[in-house]
Amino acid sequence: MITLAGIQPSGRLHIGNYFGSIKKIIDMQDDNNVYAFIANYHAMTTVSNHDTFSQLTLECAIDFLSLGVDPTKTIFWIQSDVKEVLELYWILSNYTSIGLLQRAHSYKDKIAKGIPPNHSLFSYPVLMASDILLYDSEVVPVGKDQIQHIEMTRDIATKFNNQFGDIFVMPNAKLDNQEETIVGLDGQKMSKSHNNTINIFSDKKELEKSVKKIVTDSTPLEEPKEYENCNVYNIAKPFLNNEQKNELQERYKSGTQGYGHFKKYLVEIIYDYYLPFREKKEYYKSNIGEVKEILNDGALKAKAKAESKMSLIREKMGLKFD
Ligand code: TRP
Repeated sequence: MITLAGIQPSGRLHIGNYFGSIKKIIDMQDDNNVYAFIANYHAMTTVSNHDTFSQLTLECAIDFLSLGVDPTKTIFWIQSDVKEVLELYWILSNYTSIGLLQRAHSYKDKIAKGIPPNHSLFSYPVLMASDILLYDSEVVPVGKDQIQHIEMTRDIATKFNNQFGDIFVMPNAKLDNQEETIVGLDGQKMSKSHNNTINIFSDKKELEKSVKKIVTDSTPLEEPKEYENCNVYNIAKPFLNNEQKNELQERYKSGTQGYGHFKKYLVEIIYDYYLPFREKKEYYKSNIGEVKEILNDGALKAKAKAESKMSLIREKMGLKFD
């Protein structure tokens, strides 16, 4: 299955990002044909500080490589290194009605948040359709907020195919499992906009500071505690196997330990879990040349695929004159 993941370089990654999407992409690498790219063109629609934009993009690449994107299995590149995507974007614009774009929730949400209503923001879904259709993507892992974009992609592809034959593959969204939503420090869904995150690459001090802020009830130390709705337990859960989960549940029920103990334990498990990833990140940070080589190599592979697709499309569209 050709699986395409688009990643916005949005700064520091948190454990909600990790279990909600990153780990799923990493786990797919073994038995899927994974294409993963950093969507820096898309990020341009909301980034305002362009002095740090390239740095942010590179950092995002380092983070994903450190977390397990394996360039021997996955084609990994920066979106703007394959310019064919912009050519297809223009072509697809001719098969995208204004009404379709006007119905986009994510556009409306962004405007409501005060982002200036640029044309790029409005046509964002067309560029996303181009990303998806250019590489014959069959599966696109996304969060709930992106489902409509996949539907729009199918709509655009259908219009095009009706006129030119079966050129584009119909993509399917693969939705993050809601059950696995990671709660944040305050018990809401972990999200940067809720300011309730625990960052993956935190050092010990920062991690302790975040964990301290986790909201708990005030059951005294010597009373048994409920683990089901406890934010500390729920944040710990994805890091634990069944045996460890049972052990922790027993500690809650025992009435001999308080939330301070559980928080200390949580710091340890998160710190240990990400230890190899932090080490890898240090390695890549001091070997930037290697990171750039990986990205260049990925861009070449993606470009080869994009070129062959574009060649067919240009021919169909009368953009070839030989
Ligand atoms: N819009 C996606 C997001 O905000 C990022 C993205 C851009 C993407 N192009 C894509 C995701 C193509 C999947 C496929 O998360």
